[in-house]
Amino acid sequence: MDHLTPNDASSVEQPGSRKRRRAATKAPQAHSLPTLIAPDVEAETLLRSTLDALSAHIAVLDEAGTIIAVNQAWRAFAHASGYADANHGVGMNYLAVCEAAAAVSKDASRTAGALRDIMAGDRSEFRMEYPCRSPQGPRWFQLRVTRPDQAQTRRIVIAHEDITEVKRTQEELTRLSGRLMHLQDEERRAIARELHDTTAQNLLAITLNATRLHEGLRDAGEPARRVLVETLELAEQSLQEVRTLSYLLHPPLLDDVGLTAALSWLARGFSERSGIQVAISIENSGEPLPRPTATALYRVAQEALSNVHRHSGSKRARLALYRTKDMVQLDVVDGGTGLGSLVEAGREEARQIGVGISGMRLRLEQLGGRLDIRSSPSGTHVSAKVPITLADSDQPL
Ligand SMILES: Nc1ncnc2c1ncn2[C@@H]1O[C@H](COP(=O)(O)OP(=O)(O)OP(=O)(O)O)[C@@H](O)[C@H]1O
Ligand SMILES: [Mg+2]
Repeated sequence: MDHLTPNDASSVEQPGSRKRRRAATKAPQAHSLPTLIAPDVEAETLLRSTLDALSAHIAVLDEAGTIIAVNQAWRAFAHASGYADANHGVGMNYLAVCEAAAAVSKDASRTAGALRDIMAGDRSEFRMEYPCRSPQGPRWFQLRVTRPDQAQTRRIVIAHEDITEVKRTQEELTRLSGRLMHLQDEERRAIARELHDTTAQNLLAITLNATRLHEGLRDAGEPARRVLVETLELAEQSLQEVRTLSYLLHPPLLDDVGLTAALSWLARGFSERSGIQVAISIENSGEPLPRPTATALYRVAQEALSNVHRHSGSKRARLALYRTKDMVQLDVVDGGTGLGSLVEAGREEARQIGVGISGMRLRLEQLGGRLDIRSSPSGTHVSAKVPITLADSDQPL
């Protein structure tokens, strides 16, 4: 058995093995297991070849913050960027460099602060993504500062990894998802209008005709009258269903009257269908809101309420819409189990499957806003914020 499969032997339950296995789970966590080197390998050669094989630009600092080693990738980048220093930083104090740059760069200031904390032993790691100019044009890097947990040497490792491709893919994905959501909204709006303006009108005409027929056929036989009554009932039921569907797809209130009215309508319908009481509080909603903002907040309310119904177990919810100085905010609060219960029960995968929360987040980010979720065993608080400017308020819905 190799060291990668330490638990194979425990697949057959032995007397007392449960106790041993529990002890085994208390063994060192994966991240605290240091590098293991075969006894006949020369450590310095290994260290050099390993550092040089890494794509990240790496510098190793001593406990005072002075650079004592840099790898090949670091040197190549420094060289390509035109740094004249032949040592490519070795012997310089990295903290002093960051502090000197802190006046003109927020990123340098954050790094200096984190490095000081790491040197003082107040934290062991710091990560930051930052944009950077490079000879190949604008790039994104991830900086990772770590203090390896070894008693005999107190070193700090600085690693800058080029994450430009990941960033570009993320940006492209966000752009595409935003576009898809916009198209979906537009399509829903078009279908809702079509259903409302054409199908519902035709169904209404059918019910009116059937009613007139019913009145005109007073002398007809009972079977014919029964067929007509049934037709009338079916037409009325279909009309009701088409109207509800059209409203759910896109409430006309949202376009015609505004978000406040649409939310009230949503909360009322949701309460009737789910039996969950929704207290709604809307003060100074900031309306008229731009159409994308109103649509996004409406969709967030729809999804958050649907989550309350499907996951929280709560019998009550609160929906609030209000405007602060430069934001419009929507809160949906429930008194249910919270998101954490699933994680504790080992059903982490359930959190991964849904698209509801990521969809809400994405919608808001498209508008420069954000979604915050606070959750405890006594409930969940979903809060959506979208920035709003004075010019926005003047725009029609
Ligand atoms: N109000 C809530 N109370 C308790 N758990 C919640 C609540 N809202 C969300 N969750 C948990 O978070 C998970 C993710 O929610 P999300 O809306 O993203 O997905 P979903 O509702 O499962 O599926 P989808 O929205 O895609 O139909 C849910 O599966 C549920 O476990
Ligand atoms: Mg959901």
